[in-house]
Order: sequence, then C-alpha cells, then structure tokens
Amino acid sequence: MDYRNPLQLAAFCLASVTALGSVRGDSPFDAAPIRYAMTEASDPIARLKLRLERGELALEYEPGRGYLRSLLRELKAPVSSQGLVFSKTSFQRSRISPRTPRAIYFGDDVYVGWVPGGEVIELSGVDPNLGAVFYQFEQRVQDPRLRRTDESCLLCHSSFSGKRIPSHVVRSVFVDRSGTPLTGTARYRTDHASPFEQRWGGWYVTGQHGDQRHLGNVTFDSLAEAQRGGRFQGNLEELGDRFDTSRYLSPHSDVVALMVLEHQTLMHNTITAANFEARRVLHAASRADNAKQSNSTKESEAKRALSLDLQKRLDDAAESVVHALLFVGESKLTDPVSSSTEFAKVFAARGKRDSSGRSLRDLDLRTRLFKHPCSYLIDSPSFDQLPGPLLARIYARLWQVIGGGEDDTTFDHLTASDRQAIREILLETKAGLPASWRQPRR
Ligand code: HEC
Repeated sequence: MDYRNPLQLAAFCLASVTALGSVRGDSPFDAAPIRYAMTEASDPIARLKLRLERGELALEYEPGRGYLRSLLRELKAPVSSQGLVFSKTSFQRSRISPRTPRAIYFGDDVYVGWVPGGEVIELSGVDPNLGAVFYQFEQRVQDPRLRRTDESCLLCHSSFSGKRIPSHVVRSVFVDRSGTPLTGTARYRTDHASPFEQRWGGWYVTGQHGDQRHLGNVTFDSLAEAQRGGRFQGNLEELGDRFDTSRYLSPHSDVVALMVLEHQTLMHNTITAANFEARRVLHAASRADNAKQSNSTKESEAKRALSLDLQKRLDDAAESVVHALLFVGESKLTDPVSSSTEFAKVFAARGKRDSSGRSLRDLDLRTRLFKHPCSYLIDSPSFDQLPGPLLARIYARLWQVIGGGEDDTTFDHLTASDRQAIREILLETKAGLPASWRQPRR
C-alpha cells in the first residue's frame, strides 16, 4: 500500500479501527483503571505503525522472508537474538515443526515471531501503561498491514505467565517428531529461575554449556520414552543437519540469547503485574477518599491516607519487582556458557557504562547470567513510568538491599562487592534516582 495515498490510508485506518473494535473484550484488565483494550498503545510497534500510516517509513520486502529483516532493523531487535522453537505451542502452530521452527527475536521492548512461509509476522511491544500489546504484520508485497490484534493473542498471552496480565511467554515442553507436545508430560514456564535441566524442551539450542543438561534439540517417539528421560543433545554449534537453516536470517538459536530472553520476559511481566496492582490500589484509594469527602467536610480535609491493606498490596508489588530486578532465585550455572553468535557482544555493547567501564549489561556466564545482577530493564520506560508511590517503594527497598543495611537471607546471593558495584553503576548511569541515594553515606 502507498501510505501517501489518502484513499488507501483511509482504508488502512478503517481496518485498524475495526481491528481495535474487535479487541474490546471483558478481560480482567479491561475494567478501570487499566482499560487495556480501550487505551491507545504507545509501545515501539505502535510508533512504527504510526510512521507506516503517515508514509514516513518504507519497509523493504525480501523474497522468502518478506519484511522480517527490515522490521527487525527498525525495531532494534538484533538478528543474533534469534531463538528457534519447534513445538507447536503458539499461534501459527500448523506451520511450526522441527524442520520449520518458529524464529523469535527481541530487543529491549519488542518481541518478534516469524515462521517460514507465514503470512503474518507476530509482534508484541512493551507499553509502559499496558504491558504487552500484540500486533500482526500481514506480509503482502503490495499492501502490508500492521494491526493491533490483542484478542486472538491474549487467549494464551494472559494465562501462560501465571499472572493475570497481558504477558510474554517462554515455555518448555516434551514434543514428538512433529513438534506436538506429548500429553502426560511436564510443561514448564521458563524464566531466569528455571533449572537448566528443565529448559528448552521444544527449542533448538546452540552454543556451549559444558556438562549442564537441558531438554533442547530433542524429540521423542513416545510418552514412555519422554518419561524415561536421559536423552540429551547439547553443545551444538550449528543446526544444518536438522533442517534447512538457509531459510532463516541466522542458522543459530543461541543459548545466551535464550537466557536473556527468559530473564527479560520475567522482568517485563513482573513490571506489568506490579503496575496494574499499584494502579488498582491507587484507584481504590481515591474512590474511598471521594466517598469520604462527600460524607463529611472534616474527613475531606484530612490528609489522604491509604488503608493498611492497600499499603501492603503496594509493598508486595514493590517487593516482587525488587526480587526480579536483583535475580532472587536465579538458577546457578555449574559450567561456563558461551554464545554461538555475536549476541553476547552485541547485547553488552548497548549498555551505558560507568567511569570504570562497567555496565548492567555485562554478562557473567560462569556462575550466573549477569556480572552485576541488577536488571538492565531498570533503565527502561516501563520501569521509569511505574506509578509514583510504587516506584518510591521500589527505590527505598532497593537501597535497603544494595546500600548494605539488609540482612534478609533472600538476598544472600549478592555479596558485599556485588552490592557495591550495582550501587556505583546505578549512581553513574541511571537517571531519575531518588535524591537521597546521592547524599553522603553515614
Ligand atoms: C496457542 C497459544 C498462543 C496464541 C494464540 C498466541 N501465542 Fe504468542 N506465544 C505462545 C507461546 C507458547 C510462546 C512462547 C514460544 C513457544 O513456546 O512457542 C509465544 C511467543 C510469542 C512471541 C515471542 C515473545 C514471547 O512472548 O515469548 C510473540 C511476539 C508472540 N507470541 C506474539 C503473538 C501474537 C501477536 C499473537 C496473536 C496474533 C499470539 N502470539 C498468539 C503462544 C501463543
């Protein structure tokens, strides 16, 4: 489509409005104050959609892969972030198999799913207010369309994370030779706390990881075989003997990219859950306040106070964010892990560095994922735009832990020098820290 043509643009807008109309559901996050489906999104894909509609952006089409490469470039999702999943566990399941795995790419606030031959590219963007927002990009040569399509996506993307929010998912399942999950076997949600041996069922995995076993790269002939366990194919450098890798932008499914993806999805979901909880609490508090005001003038002059119960809900939401930020429960590596691609380098190179050259994006990969275990997503719009009272609690709690005064065993994985490094990196690289963090320490 020519986005400069007013008639075509009108048709495009109409299609988008219709699509938006169809997403108005009655999910738990459509009620006030979240109003998910009714709220215009402002994630990176929404911005891309706007640029397309205004004719400010022309994407390049490539035979075989359509607009994939061009979209990834615009969304700053590196090709080396590619992970390949062959379980029939998602939207375009009929096209997914061990010979035609689905490729997933990600940047800091976008996720992209592509299957060879697929008519649509699946996208999700991270919106500071709404959490995950879902889109389909229709791969027509002449008339490509990008539409928000939450309704058909939330079916899975609001349940698999275990939290009732629009969410990102990574799963691990036992599959047969066609990629179909075997009934009667375990299904795992994967995040940075998942033990290595439970990860990547239904995924390809390339890169080195020593003696650590995982469930990737294998299919099973029967339920009995899957239940017996013991099949393991790891430390692969390439996948050319499994399927035609030339159809993909990269022949890899890098173990380090997968591990970062798993942390990132957990972090984004935790931020969204805390955001929704805080807004609901503040909404309830202000309704209670209004009710009081209409009953008595004296009370209306009283300082607005949250009830103890509401305060506790805010504290719990803050605590969950601090746990995810500081990698509480992260599974330990028992052997070093290394990329089969340039992912680790590309990822770390994007980090803001302090005067000693340190960044929250520096990877460790010997005993844990990151050298300085405080998530790089602390420096992201969805974190910075958390509701004020929640953000204040998060910063206060974070300071308690990394400031060194905390003796809660939950944070025992952080040594005194870890805490000091995180503190110093944040103070030099993170905007918007509370002024109290910068006051001289007693
Ligand atoms: C049948 C369930 C299901 C439906 C419906 C579904 N997805 Fe997913 N999606 C998944 C699963 C499961 C994953 C994780 C990869 C895997 O295990 O296949 C995933 C992963 C993704 C990812 C990669 C980021 C992430 O969350 O891991 C994107 C992007 C995505 N889906 C977009 C969409 C869009 C857009 C729609 C709607 C058009 C959609 N999905 C519908 C199940 C689903």
